[in-house]
Amino acid sequence: MALLKKGGEDISTEYLGYVNPDYLQTLALKVKPLKERSYELMHLQTGHRVIDIGCGSGMDTITLAEFVGPTGKVIGVDTDTQMILTANNKAKEAGVEDWVIHEHYDAMSLPYDSNYFDSCRTERLFQHVLNPENVLSEMVRITRPKGWLVAADTDHSTLSIDNSVVDIEWRMRRFRTDKFKSGYVGRQLYRLFKQQNLADIIVEIFPFFSTDYALTRYFALLDEAESEAITTGIITKEELQHWHANLEQADEKGVFFASFTMILVAGRKIF
Ligand SMILES: C[S@@+](CC[C@H](N)C(=O)[O-])C[C@H]1O[C@@H](n2cnc3c(N)ncnc32)[C@H](O)[C@@H]1O
Repeated sequence: MALLKKGGEDISTEYLGYVNPDYLQTLALKVKPLKERSYELMHLQTGHRVIDIGCGSGMDTITLAEFVGPTGKVIGVDTDTQMILTANNKAKEAGVEDWVIHEHYDAMSLPYDSNYFDSCRTERLFQHVLNPENVLSEMVRITRPKGWLVAADTDHSTLSIDNSVVDIEWRMRRFRTDKFKSGYVGRQLYRLFKQQNLADIIVEIFPFFSTDYALTRYFALLDEAESEAITTGIITKEELQHWHANLEQADEKGVFFASFTMILVAGRKIF
């Protein structure tokens, strides 16, 4: 069913399959400290015009609306029309739809004037694009001089799970990271910000851990990664059984442990 209009035309509203709003909501609770710090680093003020690129279902835009108030403007953009629809409904429910709008655009080419926004944020988008440097360059273009840019992303190679079949774990980690278009981008953010000549760069690391096996499988999308790893011959069915048995045993004993890090980088445009 097409419920979103663009340029007067109905467009399809299928989730593109990155993740769905329930997943984003569950993960948002886990990464709350990172989200809150990202808002701080945007140096938000009443009346500011701000943008969240790859906004998903609006986990951040509604909060940003409270910071800038009705005299400001919050724009969220995403390529997933179903996410945009969900985010716009959330804005309505929150009563902020007059100054919060979610639009269907690709981060690689944004329709906004240069120097238009006071600050610009993005979270867990770069991992899904082939050329994060091009997206960052667009972010720099649309941010005004002295405005702040904030990006948070995962270095998927940091997913570490306590187990005793580490050879299988290493292959799975590599495979899972390579499945993303830019699975290592968290560790690249500092370089990308420097290459854009951004000033006052701040880097912060957010470590997360989980002792919940089921939740870790859900967050890390392990079912999908494992079945693709089998299909592509990265691991055998026997190895998968061995891996599962190892993790299930840890879970039964109440000693399951996994961790990963996210990286948050902020910088100011001075030109
Ligand atoms: C992991 S989700 C993160 C959503 C949101 N930033 C959050 O923290 O809840 C990544 C989002 O990026 C969007 N996305 C992927 N490629 C994109 C692109 N080229 N332009 C804009 N959005 C994109 C996806 O549709 C998805 O909603």
